[in-house]
Amino acid sequence: MASKPDNPSNNALWGGRFTESTDAFVQAFTASVSFDQRLFQEDIEGSRAHARMLCRVGVLTKTEQALILKGLDEIEAEITAGTFTWSVEREDVHMNIEARLTEKIGEAGKKLHTGRSRNDQIATDIRLHLRSETTAILAEISRLLHGLLTLAEPHTGTIMPGFTHLQTAQPVTFGHHVLAWFEMILRDAGRLIDCQRRLNMMPLGAAALAGTSYPIDRHFTAELLGFDAPTENSLDAVSDRDFAIEFCAAAALCMTHFTRIAEELVLWTSAQFDFIELPDRFCTGSSIMPQKKNPDVPELVRGKVGRVNGHLISLLTLMKSQPLAYNKDNQEDKEPLFDTINTLRDSVRAFADMMPAIKPKTDNMRNAAQQGFSTATDLADYLVRKGLPFRDAHEVVGQAVRLGVDTQRDLSEMSLTELQQFSPIIDGDVFDVLTLEGSVAARNHFGGTAPDQVKQAIQRARQRLTEAGL
Ligand code: ARG
Repeated sequence: MASKPDNPSNNALWGGRFTESTDAFVQAFTASVSFDQRLFQEDIEGSRAHARMLCRVGVLTKTEQALILKGLDEIEAEITAGTFTWSVEREDVHMNIEARLTEKIGEAGKKLHTGRSRNDQIATDIRLHLRSETTAILAEISRLLHGLLTLAEPHTGTIMPGFTHLQTAQPVTFGHHVLAWFEMILRDAGRLIDCQRRLNMMPLGAAALAGTSYPIDRHFTAELLGFDAPTENSLDAVSDRDFAIEFCAAAALCMTHFTRIAEELVLWTSAQFDFIELPDRFCTGSSIMPQKKNPDVPELVRGKVGRVNGHLISLLTLMKSQPLAYNKDNQEDKEPLFDTINTLRDSVRAFADMMPAIKPKTDNMRNAAQQGFSTATDLADYLVRKGLPFRDAHEVVGQAVRLGVDTQRDLSEMSLTELQQFSPIIDGDVFDVLTLEGSVAARNHFGGTAPDQVKQAIQRARQRLTEAGL
């Protein structure tokens, strides 16, 4: 950028007090334009609102306002069309746009920065950006949540083994299992919605740190930009990035939930489990083993938690010990935040596309539940209902299981006489509770795995999505 004769610096926007040009490496080292140009839309949005406010309070004339708005429209079009030239000399998105504005409209362009600093500008831009990105992510999460209900709905009575310690524990329904995922992700959505509430405060007017001596109307600007209110304290407004950290924490938790789901999908597609079929479009093959069909999408999502967790730690560490108010450290918030946004959005999208396409192999699930004595607890509960204390019932069933292990049979495959040798109070009605269907149907209370309960839970889930605006 051309410097004025009395400005020996290579920066026309802040070089006035400098006696030499910035070192070329330092210029590149301190520049952020390579990554913060992602914020151009929000930067222009913020400038439009700022100019309107300045005009309303009499700092800019109507003509100046009109020129600025027209210039900003043109710049927006240039950037969108890819004809805008970003320059490292102009350091960041703010100065690139402002310098271009002055090139286009002259003196009026130089007035846009009145009563404003890049410190409150960037604090505003990131908030606006995160607000809209979060809204987009929530739309994808909504698609995922509806997809999970689609997956669960036909399987309210489909029996599979439920696990603890990854050992067969008790039969559950596949619909119930999928609804557990639904609950995890719905809480993640709630966390993101909650982040947006605290995020939606407007820093503009905080200026560099202390506010500005111009008669600004921050409430007006806040309204124009759709913020709930202007921030209360100018020092806090330009310096804290807690909203970005909060988003990354919510993202890390959501990704962690995804890894749990991904892990199950990977296990279930293995030949050893063989519980589900993932459509080919979500898998890839092996270059050497012709038989392979790898569950790449869940595996990749599982792997991507690494970078998201890393970004959370980056931002926490970036913020740690920073004195008030703005420090250049904060320029380092963008790349971790942007990558977190991209990773979370893509992962949600991949899951949202994949979930309704999963094909459960219901016979295999049922057969697996038939093994591993998954109805042992039901036999114990049966004995308790007949008057035996639970500890004694536990012992009796343990002996029956041992016979099953020795003779390779399920409890339901033993004869009444065989079962009665462990306890004489066992009757012919015992076989009702030893079936898988009897076992799940018995867990017939709010939150339980009985098919009737799962059906009702799906209905409630739809209602809850509506109430949450999802
Ligand atoms: N590029 C800076 C950032 O991302 C913008 C604010 C810079 N302010 C300053 N006085 N250097 O944080």
